[in-house]
Amino acid sequence: FYVDKGNHRHFMQKEIYEQPEVLSHTLGAFVDMSSGRTRIPDGQDLDFSKIRRIALSACGTGFYAALVGRYYFERFAGIPCDLDVASEFRYRESPLGDVDLALFVSQSGETADTLASLRYAKSQGLKTAAIVNVQESTIARESDFVLPTLAGPEIGVASTKAFTCQLMALAALAIRAGVDRGVITPERELELTRTLTEAPRLANEAIRLEEVIERLARDMATKSHALFLGRGFSYPLALEGALKLKEISYIHAEGYAAGELKHGPIALIDETMPVVVVAPHDRSFEKTISNVQEVAARGGEIILITDASGAASGAVEGAQMIVLPDMPEILTPIVYAIPLQLLAYHTAIQMGTDVDQPRNLAKSVTVE
Ligand code: G6P
Repeated sequence: FYVDKGNHRHFMQKEIYEQPEVLSHTLGAFVDMSSGRTRIPDGQDLDFSKIRRIALSACGTGFYAALVGRYYFERFAGIPCDLDVASEFRYRESPLGDVDLALFVSQSGETADTLASLRYAKSQGLKTAAIVNVQESTIARESDFVLPTLAGPEIGVASTKAFTCQLMALAALAIRAGVDRGVITPERELELTRTLTEAPRLANEAIRLEEVIERLARDMATKSHALFLGRGFSYPLALEGALKLKEISYIHAEGYAAGELKHGPIALIDETMPVVVVAPHDRSFEKTISNVQEVAARGGEIILITDASGAASGAVEGAQMIVLPDMPEILTPIVYAIPLQLLAYHTAIQMGTDVDQPRNLAKSVTVE
């Protein structure tokens, strides 16, 4: 196939901008738009009612999507989840106990460790399912259930639209699982799927913050280190934000659960350390903010990614802010990914790195 950059300077920017559209395509695979009911794509017979535990595994950005997936399955369907990076799962020889389904997340469907984990799960007699973007891939062929993301070809090495589409698929699946298990009523199902249809509009709102983010990126580009913090649904986003920044700008970045700040990283805080905080005004907000105040008290420079309610609370004096609209919790991982992508993208541009083909990285890692 041939894909060009259109009017964009890089594939990464183009792929960031495609998110509203591909999120809606992906949602359409998992939700029947006329009835608002969730479904498993292509009429596959994946039924969550008897699944006692799910083992999730993936690599890189897919692993962070899987981490959000665990929060979704536990919150919306009450299914406990195990989670491993695939390079560990394949060798860990973990007693699988009551695991009834192994779920893999992969953009390319060719990552060697993820494929080996899939084969290991099959050898242990587990049912397997894969959220994959490339439908002709090995992982898609070898899984019992194929759960497609419809992100289209992703060229930029740093994953953007594939990640948010993975989150969309996981959110819809978790709702489906909740319905199968009787923990989500039909009315609640409709309410949740209606919420998911808001994702493209909110993704557009996030993209419109590009200029604000570009200004913040100029400052970020002068730093050697950065810390990303989040709690609950935003914890995996902090990890993904740090990964994006290090992948393409080569600035050393670490993501942490906000509550872990006091167990180590706070020792690093001084005026030279930017701290990016992912904090929608959700049930974790007050706790995250109290962690952020500890950063502020030590002179750390704060970039707070929050929503209108979070900004209005005036909770952190002197923080730079990226302000999104208020939205239901299930959407925050999807929408908050976008400012993090744009921050990494514009920082990399300031640094003059090769955004679409960062050094030492490959789009698809087919060796161990
Ligand atoms: C590489 C890519 C990452 C990707 C990871 C897993 O490291 O650079 O962007 O997240 O592989 O790839 P997969 O295709 O399995 O999602």
